[in-house]
Amino acid sequence: MEKSIQEIRDIKKAMGNRLAILGHHYQSDDVIALTDIQGDSLELARKIGDLDAEHIVFCGVYFMAESAAILRRPGQNIHIPDSTATCPMADMAEADKVEATLDILQADGRKIIPLTYVNSSAAVKGVVGRYDGSVCTSANAKTMLKWAMDQGDAVLFLPDRHLAMNTADALGIAEDERTILPQGVIDGDPRLFVDTAATADRRLIAWPGYCPIHEAFTVHTIAELRTTDPAIKVIVHPECDPAVVQAADGNGSTTYLINYVADAPTGSIIHVGTETNLVSRLAARFPDKTIKPLALSLCDDMGKITVDNLAALLRNIDSAPPVDASEAIKAPARIALERMLKVCA
Ligand code: 13P
Ligand code: SF4
Repeated sequence: MEKSIQEIRDIKKAMGNRLAILGHHYQSDDVIALTDIQGDSLELARKIGDLDAEHIVFCGVYFMAESAAILRRPGQNIHIPDSTATCPMADMAEADKVEATLDILQADGRKIIPLTYVNSSAAVKGVVGRYDGSVCTSANAKTMLKWAMDQGDAVLFLPDRHLAMNTADALGIAEDERTILPQGVIDGDPRLFVDTAATADRRLIAWPGYCPIHEAFTVHTIAELRTTDPAIKVIVHPECDPAVVQAADGNGSTTYLINYVADAPTGSIIHVGTETNLVSRLAARFPDKTIKPLALSLCDDMGKITVDNLAALLRNIDSAPPVDASEAIKAPARIALERMLKVCA
């Protein structure tokens, strides 16, 4: 690895402003140390427009690089060191099933606005753009769900059912105004699983996707920790089950979690319910506080990006095939992403 680190440093020096390396907070310390910009999904998406670099390398999962490819300017090339680093939650919503579901839900004449979490494919974002919808991240889900509610009769939120329900709780949307589509929609024919009688009077319809990494955190663990030490704080990402979010002292995007820890008084004991790489980095960065993972839970896909495959990409970056999608997908997907950036400017 030492050889790769030195090689990356040398290439960065030689390329100067022609290269920008972006990293999501769930990347390992070794990779993060080599990035120029770190951030949550919203911050990284926002950065693309400001970058002058000809080559932008995304250390994260594929949907993040794809979002950058949608927002890039002509002449910019987006890369990812391992294109098999996908997000299992994003893979739970396929574009054709999302489109079929929207058609079924709209058959009675209601206007259904799709709102997709940024953890989704470019093709899904394209469908969402074509159906007058938008994108959201965990940092702006409340603002964007409120926006989407105002655009039509109901919202189809996808793919994360937990983020949908946690955001609905934050906005005070009543239980009887929302529903989650049955799990079968993920793998099956939507016509078999979308029951229009059950969705007709609902203002919020959630896709049944979820993040397997955030399923590791439980109410039981939080209750046990609080029994042992009532003074502890628990903060979690809103991809956690709503019961876990309700049992926590706070919830929010990865940037929220970082700021909460940074702002906590010296001596605080904080258990953090999110991907372990970020929690370990926070523990090392704030030695005056006790920062612990609520449970160990690593995202294997985030972990596919390594110093060695970053070095291998940079070695041949001028000839490396960039991440891209067809213009037929990108044009409506860009509209969906830009709606979010405009609403949350
Ligand atoms: P953030 O947008 O909060 O960084 O989250 C992205 C993600 O994939 C969380 O699992
Ligand atoms: Fe996807 Fe979960 Fe990994 Fe985030 S932590 S990239 S939502 S699988």
